[in-house]
Amino acid sequence: MTDPGPRAEIGVFGGSGFYQIADDVQELWVETPYGPPSDKISILTIGGRKVAFLPRHGRDHRYPPHRVPYRANLWAMKSLGVSRIVGPCAAGSLQPDIPPGTFVLCDQFVNRTWGRQDTYFEGPVVTHIGAADPYCPEMRQVAAGVLARLGIPHRTGGTVVVVQGPRFSTRAESREFREHGWHVINMTQYPEVILARELGMCYLNVSLVTDYDVGLEGHPEVHPVSHQEVLRVFNANLEHLRTFLWELVPAIPQERRCSCRRAVQEARGEPELPGGR
Ligand code: ADE
Repeated sequence: MTDPGPRAEIGVFGGSGFYQIADDVQELWVETPYGPPSDKISILTIGGRKVAFLPRHGRDHRYPPHRVPYRANLWAMKSLGVSRIVGPCAAGSLQPDIPPGTFVLCDQFVNRTWGRQDTYFEGPVVTHIGAADPYCPEMRQVAAGVLARLGIPHRTGGTVVVVQGPRFSTRAESREFREHGWHVINMTQYPEVILARELGMCYLNVSLVTDYDVGLEGHPEVHPVSHQEVLRVFNANLEHLRTFLWELVPAIPQERRCSCRRAVQEARGEPELPGGR
């Protein structure tokens, strides 16, 4: 019998400033029909649950947001057996009441990227996935409970506007986003979350706020974001993120009760099979 190789249940993506999850890991390259993922995948056990970790920009941050091989990354996770993704990312705040250091568990995104390969459904079978609620409600609820228990400043629910990058926004762009009432801004949530959904995986976003984007009205001392500042603030909060992940993973229920796993079948009008499949 051939060895199926290491399996994992929960996938974690590392973002800017989060390139390594632990020292004691098994590392492997995963082949995909979409080319190589951003880096080797680390397999580790957290609280008895198998976790696969992949830094989406590569561990040397070689892939800018618009060049991340998103399709390969999600495919690699799925091929290891992953059914739930935790997607931490650095994000700018668009609202004065969401200061740096806050964890925002987004429930909506607005896509302002272009030209990214954002689907596995290239035909001849056409599938229009429903995206009204792109983020997993079950994982978000569990995550909110963990953050509350740990006393980490957070916001449950919010809209992330995903911009193309790699440049940051102009003041006019940022004002538009803020006036829409959107909460945070980032460059990688799209198409990561939607590709996970197309593969029937749940996705939890954890936006770690690192900056106030172009600054804060009435506070000239708050400067527009820079990449150095994003990394500095992300690093300052990395211990919070690790503590959160180590508490979150064992708290995730074994069985999925959300509808994420059936998104593709629902799009195709396929009935639910006995046993919840
Ligand atoms: N990632 C972190 N901060 C950001 C910002 N202000 N804009 C876009 N992406 C970000």
